[in-house]
Amino acid sequence: MSKVSIIGAGNVGATVADVIARAGYCHEVVLLDIKPGLAEGKALDIAQTAPLLGFDTKVRGVTNDYKAIADSDIVVITSGRPRSPGMSRDDLIHVNAEIIKSVMEPAVFYAPNAVFIVVTNPLDTMAYYAYKLSRLPSQRVIGMAGVLDTARYRYFLAQELNASVQDIEAMLLGGHGDTMVPLPRYTTIGGIPIMNLIAPDKLNAIIERTKFGGGEITQLLGTSAWYAPGAAVAQMVASILLDQKRVLPCSAYLQGQYDLYDIYVGVPVKLGRQGVEEIIQLALNEEERKLLHTSAEAVRAMNAILKF
Ligand code: NAI
Ligand code: 2OP
Repeated sequence: MSKVSIIGAGNVGATVADVIARAGYCHEVVLLDIKPGLAEGKALDIAQTAPLLGFDTKVRGVTNDYKAIADSDIVVITSGRPRSPGMSRDDLIHVNAEIIKSVMEPAVFYAPNAVFIVVTNPLDTMAYYAYKLSRLPSQRVIGMAGVLDTARYRYFLAQELNASVQDIEAMLLGGHGDTMVPLPRYTTIGGIPIMNLIAPDKLNAIIERTKFGGGEITQLLGTSAWYAPGAAVAQMVASILLDQKRVLPCSAYLQGQYDLYDIYVGVPVKLGRQGVEEIIQLALNEEERKLLHTSAEAVRAMNAILKF
């Protein structure tokens, strides 16, 4: 029996539940929210798609009842305020830190063996904070960002090249913010380096659009994205639950890798049943290394605001 619990039944949390329930690789999905009735209502609505879409996943919603998440294999943390237009992810830090603090203690108490995936922004700082609060091994606390950011990058590239998104593979490093570092040298289409197929100015424009991809949607919607973030979390959940050992860009705790210490930041990791089973160290050139370290400094500055 496998069980995934999602704390925060808002736009992202409910989308994660929906995607996982449909996929059918997990027996039970629990949605938990602080707002009375919200998680129950969304869970019931998702559950009622089962006869139409043909899945047997049990979907259950609860209001702040952490007993319901007991023995989860994975806990996804999506509780927290999203961005409004004009706000950066970093503007959310104090309010979301309070929320992370209030959810991590009961979540770890009831699901001490789970792998935790943090989604709340500012992502790298919240993942770090959740890790420190949890006292769990760092391989079991992971931040979701790079899977989403590379999905945006891959989509923009596919559009530009009139190609299938499925043929585009990409890697990206750094924090989930405007300093993120898409890596053209590690981007391919059908195994062919992307730099052979696209003009430098077009590639640079796509990299810039990717960096501000979250803001672009926030401007349009008045709140931040949820379909792609939800699908990105679900890809990480599948890799962990099914022990797929996929190599995905995730925010992970670094202890010397890439010459970075005591920080959560985006790097390629192998995700399996144990969580982060390996942090893969790419041979970066000087410019890539500089960009990664600049991004890590931006994350560190954010961590310093919380003084932990
Ligand atoms: P939302 O406002 O739709 O949902 C958040 C939910 O959290 C609400 O239902 C709220 O009642 C709940 N909540 C608040 N405090 C809680 C608590 N103490 N316990 C349980 N539930 C609580 O927001 P949305 O769009 O789902 O975004 C959630 C978070 O994810 C935001 O911080 C957003 O910035 C972040 N995000 C991160 C992404 C990433 O790539 N890492 C992508 C998209 C969103
Ligand atoms: C996003 O990138 C806001 O972090 C969120 O869509």
